[in-house]
Amino acid sequence: MPNPSSSDAIGIGLLGLGVVGAGVFDTLLSRAEVYTRRGGRALEVRRVAVRDVERERSLPLGDVTLSQDPIAVATAPDIAITVELMGGEQPALDCIRAALRSGKHVVTANKEVMAKHGPELLALAQAQSVELEYEASVGGGIPIISPLKRDLQANEVQRLQAIINGTTNFMLTAMAQHGASYEDALAEAQRLGYAEADPSSDVEGTDAAYKLAILASLAFHTTVSPDEIYCEGITQLTARDFRYAADLGYVIRLLATAQRVEGQPDTLEARVHPTLVPRSEPLARVDGVLNAVAVEGDLLGRAIFQGEGAGAGPTTSAVVADVLDVAYGIAAGQKPRPLRPSDPPACIRPIGELRMPYYLRMVVYDRPGVLADLGRLLAEHQTSIASLIQVEADAVAGTAELIMTTHETKEADLDAFREAVRGMESVHDIGVRIRMETARA
Ligand SMILES: NC(=O)c1ccc[n+]([C@@H]2O[C@H](COP(=O)([O-])OP(=O)(O)OC[C@H]3O[C@@H](n4cnc5c(N)ncnc54)[C@H](OP(=O)(O)O)[C@@H]3O)[C@@H](O)[C@H]2O)c1
Repeated sequence: MPNPSSSDAIGIGLLGLGVVGAGVFDTLLSRAEVYTRRGGRALEVRRVAVRDVERERSLPLGDVTLSQDPIAVATAPDIAITVELMGGEQPALDCIRAALRSGKHVVTANKEVMAKHGPELLALAQAQSVELEYEASVGGGIPIISPLKRDLQANEVQRLQAIINGTTNFMLTAMAQHGASYEDALAEAQRLGYAEADPSSDVEGTDAAYKLAILASLAFHTTVSPDEIYCEGITQLTARDFRYAADLGYVIRLLATAQRVEGQPDTLEARVHPTLVPRSEPLARVDGVLNAVAVEGDLLGRAIFQGEGAGAGPTTSAVVADVLDVAYGIAAGQKPRPLRPSDPPACIRPIGELRMPYYLRMVVYDRPGVLADLGRLLAEHQTSIASLIQVEADAVAGTAELIMTTHETKEADLDAFREAVRGMESVHDIGVRIRMETARA
């Protein structure tokens, strides 16, 4: 910082000095001069909380006070902005609450805290006349929270569809492009540092559901809790599904979707699950660790925000932008912006009511009459076939693999059909069912 310990400087307390925290610290230090020139007041990281104060750090910490007590840092009298970059629900939640109660502005990248406790924390910030900003909580460096809050507010958003988990997108791309198995794709993601040692939050879809809760709440001016979001991960997919999807003209993506239900303006669909996406769709071309969010508004049409969804640089870009926004507001003596008005709470439609086309893969014994039996069950469950491919699966076992796609079907009917098939003696393996997107005009 150009002017350490200046009494005029805006004091920053940093909670966490990991991948993002170190990036934020380094950026605030190395670009201090330009930020000060633009904002009129210096920004000074005065305190940093870490778990282990003994650990050697490669950053030039200088006079910065290092502490193992994040609440003390978050509430210290010489801090005006608390930047929470520890991650996880606790103690991050308590730290943010304590900071807001002490009248500090807060910037966080924490999707779990904002998804589960955002409404309470935003109300607390409002009551305390301070800002709470969270651009980096979804999509890393991609600007999406701010556009949803401000630039798209004149629209009635009809639909938001996103690839917001880089780990799973990397794995799905590897499975499609190199024929990798789920296990190999996960091992490669871990080797490259894209997946944690415990990848469950990514591969089971929870991480994407947290992010979708944040995006849907903003896009639809309501509160969508992560518990209300239907969530299915990628663990059931096999390399074969990617081959068959490609033959049909599709790729598989873990899509997070929130949309208004036609004819029911107060009802939303909110779901995270693997989806067959037509190869012609822009989201089908979002490969590797990239993230993308497509928003459809009645005035705007469709806009797609795409970029690096994680990593020190992109996430630092979003966090520091929030810090600068808050700091420039302080320097200009601005009052915090009021909370955006909300519409009445939305109902979330149960997943069984969903109507989509489906991809089904199953293994049956290659005997006369099997297809006729399946056809009868399909008719009993109001499900009609759009295409059917039979693949010789195992000549010795006498089984064949069937790849079916259906016309638009109610999910509850399709699940009842699959339950009935499970009981058929001629069915060897019920396989997977994957929801299919149709190409958009
Ligand atoms: N990494 C990304 O690409 C990315 C992208 C978007 C959003 N985010 C979000 O950014 C946040 C930070 O992620 P990260 O990847 O930087 O995490 P990280 O590398 O694991 O760093 C976490 C930091 O927090 C400190 N910490 C953890 N628990 C603490 C406690 N109880 N008291 C004091 N300090 C504590 C750790 O201290 P030690 O250094 O002593 O261990 C470490 O410095 C998370 O909310 C994450 O979801 C990250």
